[in-house]
Amino acid sequence: MRSVDVCLTHQDFNNYDHKGKIVVVIDVLRATSTINTLLFLGADHVMPIGSLEECKSLKDHDYIIMAERLGKKVEGFDYGNSPTKLTEKDIKGKKVAIATSNGSKAIIKSEGSEMTILCSFLNIESVINRIKKSESDVILLCSGWLGKTNLEDTLCAGGIVAGLDNFEIESDTALMAKALHENTNDILETIKLSSHAKRLSGYDNKIDIEFCSRVNTQPIIPLLEGNQIVLS
Ligand code: MLT
Repeated sequence: MRSVDVCLTHQDFNNYDHKGKIVVVIDVLRATSTINTLLFLGADHVMPIGSLEECKSLKDHDYIIMAERLGKKVEGFDYGNSPTKLTEKDIKGKKVAIATSNGSKAIIKSEGSEMTILCSFLNIESVINRIKKSESDVILLCSGWLGKTNLEDTLCAGGIVAGLDNFEIESDTALMAKALHENTNDILETIKLSSHAKRLSGYDNKIDIEFCSRVNTQPIIPLLEGNQIVLS
């Protein structure tokens, strides 16, 4: 029987053996929601970058450069990490480099997996279906916030665990995530309770929270190929 496990922060990922497994990276507010939106709008590919300096250098190589720190756009970049500020006119066909506080680092850490795909609520049902068609065990890698577990990523992971009904649940973190999802009636109202939603709201960014809570409105699969995320 295939197994599913949940890692609650990318800093904990060193405790997980992800070789030969599918890694599903989750950062609902907002990195994997934003990357899903970029590809949904037709971006050629998205490159996750760890450092601001490296991300900025890609401007000279015709990349759109996006950077966020502590939930805010970084000065000198084309965009922060808000999916609602992206338009097809500006994104279609473009190469994009993105450096965020947690999500882009989580994606980079998944290197060496059998397959890395990205999930948010925007494509959660598509991800569940894609996992079912595969054959490997699964680790759901929540990005978290600066080393701490966050509500929205754990809730999304729980939704995936709940959808993988014939998988063996590998650990208590997967049980906890599934229980959280099973006790949630309204995704948006629950996400609004999260510390990051309150942080973003403080920056007058409530629209992103509503956008990132929409279930499977962007039914695509972002796949990590080498150091680029492309439409699977
Ligand atoms: C992250 O990488 O932690 C998030 O994407 C931060 C954000 O977009 O506000």
